[in-house]
Amino acid sequence: MKIVVLAGGISMERDVSLSSGKGIYHALKENGHQVILLDLFLGLAEVKQPLESLFDADIDWAASISGVAEKAPDLDQVKALRPGYKSLPGPHVLELCGLCDIVFLALHGANGEDGRIQALFDLLGIRYTGTGHTSSALCMDKNITKQLFRGYGIPTPPDILVRKGCSFELPESIGFPCMVKTCCGGSSVGVYRAEDVFGLNKALKEAFAYEDTVLIERCIIGREFSVAVVEGKALPIIEIAPLTGFYDYKNKYQAGSTIETCPADLPGNIAARIQKHAREACEAAGIEGYARVDFMLDERSGEDYALEVNTLPGMTPTSLMPQEAAALGYSYSQLCEWILNVSVRKYRRHTQGGLI
Ligand SMILES: Nc1ncnc2c1ncn2[C@@H]1O[C@H](COP(=O)(O)OP(=O)(O)O)[C@@H](O)[C@H]1O
Ligand SMILES: [Mg+2]
Repeated sequence: MKIVVLAGGISMERDVSLSSGKGIYHALKENGHQVILLDLFLGLAEVKQPLESLFDADIDWAASISGVAEKAPDLDQVKALRPGYKSLPGPHVLELCGLCDIVFLALHGANGEDGRIQALFDLLGIRYTGTGHTSSALCMDKNITKQLFRGYGIPTPPDILVRKGCSFELPESIGFPCMVKTCCGGSSVGVYRAEDVFGLNKALKEAFAYEDTVLIERCIIGREFSVAVVEGKALPIIEIAPLTGFYDYKNKYQAGSTIETCPADLPGNIAARIQKHAREACEAAGIEGYARVDFMLDERSGEDYALEVNTLPGMTPTSLMPQEAAALGYSYSQLCEWILNVSVRKYRRHTQGGLI
């Protein structure tokens, strides 16, 4: 197939996305596809040959992509590379996407995982991997996602939504420590743990620098897990145990800073319950294809709490979903092929051939 892997873009998770994109690009090439890797925002400034012929050109599209740094990228620096830009997709991005059989979305966070690219592609008749625009948008907002969980009876930590400049009272159901998080963040950017009122005020100040509405959640003390769901089936659960602190940006992307165990060592009944909640969370959010659901297991009550649904889960070398697939016997490149097939099936189901 002719495939464009779309990565980068303008999001705090830009570097993570480029790293996912690089892995997917190499895997799809290994699988025999004609693949182009593009940065959604930077696109392809100079083109010296017909666009169509680029799918067959001998170019290493991933050559300039390095790993994920310890800190999230400075987006102003990236924006400065396209002075005066008007549209988010960079030069030739939409043209190349229009020429391929399917776009493999390696985007994460804002402007990629939030449904807008999906909606644009739907209107343009461009096929893409992963779930559609509505579920992407719903899951981008943790406050809305949690309401969907509650509607389905899936436990999620008690929380309150706080608006910038508005006073609030911290309910007893939350207490300290608590977690402060932006509604539409990702990769733990804008997520803080507060031990007391002083820490809470500091965390709120930092979170409000990103967004005007912020969630304060009860901090669930206990083990952390994540479960990918593909076409309604839960993959083996992965346990995430950072050596220090919680699963923040650094612990997510610096190899060796978190111990990940898959399949997680859990009693059968608890594992089955978490997997059931993961499947239901995806159903509640209307996920098509695949997604990954994050959980905390309360060490006192033994109850599992769903935190969020990731509609374009990370595919970097240290990411969770590839490890879950490996526990099922799928290599990284087999997982990419699986995602591709699942996504193509989605279009067959919807349209029996036609796109719009
Ligand atoms: N309510 C909570 N209790 C304990 N830890 C939490 C809670 N919410 C988030 N965390 C920690 O913060 C991390 C990031 O939070 P999450 O809601 O998954 O947002 P993100 O989209 O940034 O991954 C989690 O992986 C977990 O380590
Ligand atoms: Mg998460």
